[in-house]
Amino acid sequence: MKTRTVLVTGATGTVGSALIPALQARGVTVRAMTRNPDHSVPGVETAVADLQDPASVAEALKGVDAVFLNSPSAPDAAALQIQFADLARDAGVHRLVLLSQYAARIDSPVRFLRWHAEVEAHVSELGLDYTVLRPNLYLQALLGFAGTIAQGWFAAPIGDAAVSLIDTRDIADTAATVLTTTGHTGHTYTLTGPRALTHAQIAYAIAYATGRDITFHDAPADQFTAVLTGILPPWQLDGLVEDYAHYARGEAAEVHTCVTDLTGRPARDITDFARDYAAAFIPA
Ligand SMILES: NC(=O)c1ccc[n+]([C@@H]2O[C@H](COP(=O)([O-])OP(=O)(O)OC[C@H]3O[C@@H](n4cnc5c(N)ncnc54)[C@H](OP(=O)(O)O)[C@@H]3O)[C@@H](O)[C@H]2O)c1
Repeated sequence: MKTRTVLVTGATGTVGSALIPALQARGVTVRAMTRNPDHSVPGVETAVADLQDPASVAEALKGVDAVFLNSPSAPDAAALQIQFADLARDAGVHRLVLLSQYAARIDSPVRFLRWHAEVEAHVSELGLDYTVLRPNLYLQALLGFAGTIAQGWFAAPIGDAAVSLIDTRDIADTAATVLTTTGHTGHTYTLTGPRALTHAQIAYAIAYATGRDITFHDAPADQFTAVLTGILPPWQLDGLVEDYAHYARGEAAEVHTCVTDLTGRPARDITDFARDYAAAFIPA
């Protein structure tokens, strides 16, 4: 069945905002879901809905062929995504593409990976044409360190472990392909960048792109936790520490070719990201 209208959840977020133009370029009609009517996305229809409000989601799903399901991490994220998937099935949606995470596993010690695995398992039982995308750590997550990088340093509890980080623009391009072409039913695609990088290599690439000295410091988990206590809620901070322990164990270093296989071009490298985002890492 040809995809005509796609509902994009998280439309104003990291992946969703890049997915909308990628879908438009493929000639499909996009409906952008946001909780805030002031967040309307130029050039596409906006559906104001909240995953916490099933009636608003059911309204947003009317007349849609395919959905991209993505929401930020939250203690109830799995339940909200499962509820959304059920509503999509009830609305007669044909195709569902789920944004999960690299190494999602129901018995993972990382809570985010368990939550994603729970949603994956549910979606696979719904009888929809579904596909799972499991991206690794986002290169754009480095923007969270931009404040200290602009001062010449950043720190995280990861040591010299390598991670095959991915650019969210590549996740969006891959999702657009999966949403608009056939042959992906039941597939799980692990999405990574073209190589695994240590944080010291990341520091070097951003230093090169900005022309400034930047040093990475390994930070003990308790020091990292102390700095972020009171800034992040406890569930998010604990989850982030679990994520970093997983990276530090070297469990997120595999390189997969799905981005190239599906989009027909190489995944963006750290050098591309550092060049394109250099201004974000320079003091204002
Ligand atoms: N960060 C990483 O490195 C990484 C790596 C792999 C996987 N992931 C996964 O990526 C997913 C997205 O994470 P993210 O932090 O980057 O978020 P995001 O995709 O940037 O999504 C944020 C958007 O979600 C919308 N939103 C928030 N609460 C909502 C609700 N109750 N109902 C409807 N929409 C809501 C907001 O839009 P409005 O304000 O416009 O409503 C916001 O723009 C998570 O599942 C995470 O596990 C992240």
